[in-house]
Amino acid sequence: MNPALANKILKLTPSSILHPTPKMDTPLVLNTGATIPAIGLGTWQSGPGEVREAVAHAIASGYRHIDTAWMYRNEAEVGEGMREGIKRAGISRADVFLTTKLWCTYHNRVEEALDDSLGKLGEEYVDLYLMHWPVPMNPNGNHPAFPKRPDGSRDIDESTTWIETYKSMVKLLATGKAKAIGVSNCSVKYLQDLAAEVGHVPAVNQVELHPFLPQHDLIEYCAAKGIHVSAYSPLGSTGTRFMNDETVQEIAKKHGASAANVLISYHVARNCSALPKSVTPSRIEENAKVLDLDDEDMETLTNLAKNKGTIRLVYPPFGVRHPSLPNDEPKLTVWQIKLGFPDKEEV
Ligand SMILES: NC(=O)c1ccc[n+]([C@@H]2O[C@H](COP(=O)([O-])OP(=O)(O)OC[C@H]3O[C@@H](n4cnc5c(N)ncnc54)[C@H](OP(=O)(O)O)[C@@H]3O)[C@@H](O)[C@H]2O)c1
Repeated sequence: MNPALANKILKLTPSSILHPTPKMDTPLVLNTGATIPAIGLGTWQSGPGEVREAVAHAIASGYRHIDTAWMYRNEAEVGEGMREGIKRAGISRADVFLTTKLWCTYHNRVEEALDDSLGKLGEEYVDLYLMHWPVPMNPNGNHPAFPKRPDGSRDIDESTTWIETYKSMVKLLATGKAKAIGVSNCSVKYLQDLAAEVGHVPAVNQVELHPFLPQHDLIEYCAAKGIHVSAYSPLGSTGTRFMNDETVQEIAKKHGASAANVLISYHVARNCSALPKSVTPSRIEENAKVLDLDDEDMETLTNLAKNKGTIRLVYPPFGVRHPSLPNDEPKLTVWQIKLGFPDKEEV
């Protein structure tokens, strides 16, 4: 095209088209060709009697993305809330993106686990099925979710690997019961290990992500490989640790918005989806507002971890006792499984 004409068209094009303001349902493209809405309602620790209405209210107020997991023990209410919300919003099931997750004690029976989740949800399919942690645990241990060995250490299933689990998850796609599969809590190292053994690229990696744990390397790696990143614990999880940060509050003031809005919008600016959890109707509505953060805001947020230090909130002690160590030193005998995150490399 003639450059002068192209320039003229560019000048006449409204800035709302050239630079659209991000919204909660801004569709972010997955490597499956499907899209995932920018903001999803988190439901971890959303308890019985409250999560049904939280999900229904979220969908009625415009949310189109819900995140749950077998481990949250709330899939039945999440499903009920989803159908109620869909009714209130006058939309259909296909308009909502639903994620659930495979728990560690189900790594050797993934289809059974998905069927169990679908039965609880009362749904025929999920839009995304994630491996919750790349850590297989004994399916026949002394607890259905968190089995321990007699010495008190975590009962890791060493007869298999999480990569074998992933291969089984790939087979779920043919059943239509999961439209996409992905992983959660995977570092670059884990994703590289997976890529070395399996041709199928996860659609999503759901990880803890916020200005205090920006994980630039992981974001860069995932972008290069076509893996969408979803951010969990965006507000600082239980206790909303980041909402009182002065820098976050200053940016919020500048935009006439809340600290939660800043912390959530940070992810959308990075092309990631964010999963704020709330069971409070007013907060569910508040969290849906996405701000158009400018370069200065993003630089300030990027400097937070550099200036104030990195904080990782969710890192369960998936420890195993190392056989060469004595039994009477609990602190030393429990070895952390190294998940490959640079901020947690050391034991
Ligand atoms: N894949 C994984 O391993 C993994 C791990 C952790 C989390 N997740 C997912 O990510 C979701 C979010 O993470 P999260 O639950 O750890 O924490 P979060 O979303 O960072 O924070 C949740 C807390 O913030 C409060 N809150 C929400 N909006 C607020 C607002 N506008 N003002 C003040 N307080 C507000 C909530 O209280 P109320 O509910 O009382 O309003 C709740 O106490 C989870 O629910 C889950 O779906 C995944």
